[in-house]
Amino acid sequence: MLVQGKTALVTGGSRGIGREIVLTLLNNGASVYYIDLAEGESLAEYQEIAAKHGQKAVFKQGNVADEAAITATCEQILEESGGIDILVNNAGITRDGLVFRMTAKDWNDVLTINLTSAFYISKVISRSMIKRRVGSVINVASIVGVIGNGGQTNYSASKAGLIGFTKSLAREVAGRGVRVNAIAPGFINTKMTEQLNEEQRDALRAQIPLGRIGEPEEVAKVVLFLASDLASYVTGQVVHITGGMGM
Ligand SMILES: NC(=O)c1ccc[n+]([C@@H]2O[C@H](COP(=O)([O-])OP(=O)(O)OC[C@H]3O[C@@H](n4cnc5c(N)ncnc54)[C@H](O)[C@@H]3O)[C@@H](O)[C@H]2O)c1
Repeated sequence: MLVQGKTALVTGGSRGIGREIVLTLLNNGASVYYIDLAEGESLAEYQEIAAKHGQKAVFKQGNVADEAAITATCEQILEESGGIDILVNNAGITRDGLVFRMTAKDWNDVLTINLTSAFYISKVISRSMIKRRVGSVINVASIVGVIGNGGQTNYSASKAGLIGFTKSLAREVAGRGVRVNAIAPGFINTKMTEQLNEEQRDALRAQIPLGRIGEPEEVAKVVLFLASDLASYVTGQVVHITGGMGM
């Protein structure tokens, strides 16, 4: 129960890594609000876990790329919850392609959803954390934002940007008791990576010292650590969760 009595907000919480983050926070005592484009199939399960311990699991439909709408949603969540202690900026997409074939739309969509949305949401939520002098923000970046990847110029730029955003925000809010960190997962088994064929998976495994693709639970456990008081002296860091890839 590492986050007992805390309230979290997770974006992209309906499936994949976001789903495991929501489950892990709920199972460790937090109430969780999550924002996604669609409710997905997880809400009933979340509410069942929350009900057992007198916590809450609340879904808010929203597009993190829509500044006006997402700002209003975050303000509503702050009012309903009485304050957010843990913010996980997790929603993200890929629109892969070689740079000379990439459309400006694919570039802009990835930058807006993966990077600019963290600015929109953190602006509202971190202001309230500062006032309450408590909070942990966790931005879900990627190893690709550190080492690059052919065919992912838009994605790697968004994740490298998220790492820079994390370090600058960490410096802005540290004096008010708020911590801001990023995680950089490697290849994790989710919908985002399921289109890889067996040959591509073998090639990937060959680059990973631990010799396997990661599971969403292994990412969620690091988020739990950063969200909890176990990480009380950790801020402005990028934690790699890659099985050793890119070390
Ligand atoms: N899977 C990996 O290997 C991997 C590796 C490194 C980083 N990541 C990052 O982890 C995060 C989660 O990825 P995942 O693999 O679980 O992906 P996923 O596609 O399975 O889940 C992403 C979730 O974000 C939601 N989402 C997408 N656009 C949104 C928007 N505009 N507004 C609100 N919600 C939106 C989706 O509906 C979905 O529920 C992403 O930021 C991704 O870049 C994933």
